[in-house]
Amino acid sequence: MSFQNVTWDVSGGIGTLTVNRPKQLNALDVATLTEIAQAIDLARAQPAEVRALVLTGAGEKAFVAGADIAAMSKLGPAEAREFAALGHRTLNALEALPVVTIAAVNGFALGGGCELAMACDLIYASEKARFGQPEVNLGLIPGFGGTQRLIRRVGLMRAKEMIFSGDVYDAARALRMGLCLEVLAPEQLLEQARARATVIASRGPAAVAVAKKVMQHGADQLLGQALDGERLAFAGLFGTPEAREGMAAFLEKRPARFTIP
Ligand code: CAA
Repeated sequence: MSFQNVTWDVSGGIGTLTVNRPKQLNALDVATLTEIAQAIDLARAQPAEVRALVLTGAGEKAFVAGADIAAMSKLGPAEAREFAALGHRTLNALEALPVVTIAAVNGFALGGGCELAMACDLIYASEKARFGQPEVNLGLIPGFGGTQRLIRRVGLMRAKEMIFSGDVYDAARALRMGLCLEVLAPEQLLEQARARATVIASRGPAAVAVAKKVMQHGADQLLGQALDGERLAFAGLFGTPEAREGMAAFLEKRPARFTIP
């Protein structure tokens, strides 16, 4: 499949999806969101080749500077609903990938860019990263999940401050509020993100996928329901070759040999 606005590269078990519209600071229009969704489909279809996914932005300046404002300025309410639905579908698909997804935030992650990062499991930032939900400056609110995912990431009050103020936060502040895991030198960001992805990809793939699902679903459930989900999933793994191999390898004092289920 050939792409215009993203690049998709698979090597060493890691898929790297790069949003590639540097002149527009990688802003998300319909074509770009559609290509992101297509690359996500490719990742899902190749579980043996793509055991983790790293998402980043092309160029020196931006991860993704948001939804494309020039394109959005032409939309009426009905078209805006379609646009938000495309954003939701795409980010939901990213969030639902069974493999771990890592945002390597190399610059501006504003509006839809911050929302895209938050649809990944883990977020690493370069010292040049800037995070924000500046939609109120445009007379808008976040429309790709930000009003809800930001609360789940950093808590209600911090999310309100960020969304109400529209302020842009530097990487150190994002780290303090729990919006990223680590702040790295720009030249180390991708290498470190890939290294983390490689470690996770070496673990039991079914176990990682089940842990991801249980944690994601559980975060939206009452504790009792979430614990029911954990118990069922834990028990279910005992029927898998992966758990047999993992436990046998420990007892036999050898590394486990995991295969893609
Ligand atoms: N959409 C479309 N084009 C964008 C863009 C965006 N979100 N962000 C930047 N660009 C374009 C600029 O228009 C400019 O294009 P030209 O060279 O053709 O003029 C180019 O990228 C470079 O941008 P700047 O000259 O503005 O660069 P800067 O270094 O001075 O500023 C910036 C960088 C602070 C990120 C600034 O570009 C900016 O504030 N961008 C908009 C950020 C924003 O508001 N994002 C939220 C969008 S709304 C949204 O995302 C809704 C949602 O939840 C779905």
